[in-house]
Amino acid sequence: MYTSNLLEKINNDLLSLKAAGKFKVERLLQGPQGPVVKLGGRDILLFASNNYLGLANHPEVVEAATKALKKYGYGLSSVRFICGTQEIHQELEQKLAKWLGVEDVILYSTCFMANLGFFATLCNEKLGSEKHVDAIYSDALNHASIIDALKLAKKELVDKKTYAHANISELTKLLDGDKNKDLRHRFIVTDGVFSMEGDLAPLPELIKVASEYQALLFVDDSHGVGVLGKIGSGTPEELGVRGQVDVLAGTLGKALGGAVGGYIGGKQTVIDLLRQKSRTYVFSNSLPPHVVSATIKVLDLLEQDKTLLRRVRQNSDYFREKIIELGFKTLPGNHPIIPIMIGDAKLTQIMSQKLLEEGLYVVGLWFPVVPEGKARLRIQISAAHSQEQLDKALAILKKVGKELKLI
Ligand SMILES: Cc1ncc(COP(=O)(O)O)c(C=O)c1O
Repeated sequence: MYTSNLLEKINNDLLSLKAAGKFKVERLLQGPQGPVVKLGGRDILLFASNNYLGLANHPEVVEAATKALKKYGYGLSSVRFICGTQEIHQELEQKLAKWLGVEDVILYSTCFMANLGFFATLCNEKLGSEKHVDAIYSDALNHASIIDALKLAKKELVDKKTYAHANISELTKLLDGDKNKDLRHRFIVTDGVFSMEGDLAPLPELIKVASEYQALLFVDDSHGVGVLGKIGSGTPEELGVRGQVDVLAGTLGKALGGAVGGYIGGKQTVIDLLRQKSRTYVFSNSLPPHVVSATIKVLDLLEQDKTLLRRVRQNSDYFREKIIELGFKTLPGNHPIIPIMIGDAKLTQIMSQKLLEEGLYVVGLWFPVVPEGKARLRIQISAAHSQEQLDKALAILKKVGKELKLI
């Protein structure tokens, strides 16, 4: 039973979140996801979504999902190894593997689950050794799902270390410091694209370091897949190292249709092990068939036509250039995540509110989501944004930026 004491404590915690301006408000969309959304009865330009290719409400993707609902039903009421695998689950895994340039892929219900499943399995399992300690070297700006995944790897079995963001020399120093330790396996883990900055991990250098120190390189490319590279396979392709990353994790919940789903891709033996022992896979329901079929359609669309990939890049380049021309501070990059650096948290909150009043929805980020004093607006560009919508968003940013004396 809830004691009044517990409820009171919870309530106080919620109140303190509100007092600190950290309380998350969920805005109600009155319709589907797209470059324009209905919010409070108004049409608002949406520049805050991971719908990079505009496929979240694409007619062919919706049609594929609808057909699959009719053919395969709504759900499987089961985990994969009991009665939760249909032909389409295997078809999607094989398609993803081919596209990513890895031997095999295993689907999870989300990428968060995939990350939890990977490290808990690889680090906690004995894998033939009586006693062991593994070491994990993690980029300081890695996503929450990686941070939590490392917590699930047992403390006594894993030595966890953080290196400063994208800092190869600091990573090398840590690896050097551990050179004579009796470690079983070493793992280097990084996001492919960092979601607060829109910058890419230095994968070619990381691959070199991983090979030099006999470490396994794990890259979560959730924001890279369906965006970067000529075929859209992500950050490794963009940086010329497709097929050279040991393990790739990713989400189906952003560019690749935006529903739910995640995966791990890598060597056949690793994927085989995960299918046997990864608890977030073995003991959790399989992906619903309509999501699986719609993702197959997304991969087919990407294979047949590169227009959306080109369009998201052109839109992003255009927007970044104009933001700089207007006099806003941003960070260098070529990804559709375009931060506008403001610094002050309060000013960022005021700006995002004013932008919304003018009809532009972007997200403001401040401490503790980003470092203190580095508050920013995060703009996210989509292939679905028309030229008119891009220019309208820029005009709103200009108006509000001038009003607040930011430009
Ligand atoms: C790098 C990274 N990994 C994992 C996730 C979580 O993905 P999912 O929604 O599939 O759990 C995200 C989403 O924000 C992400 O940015």
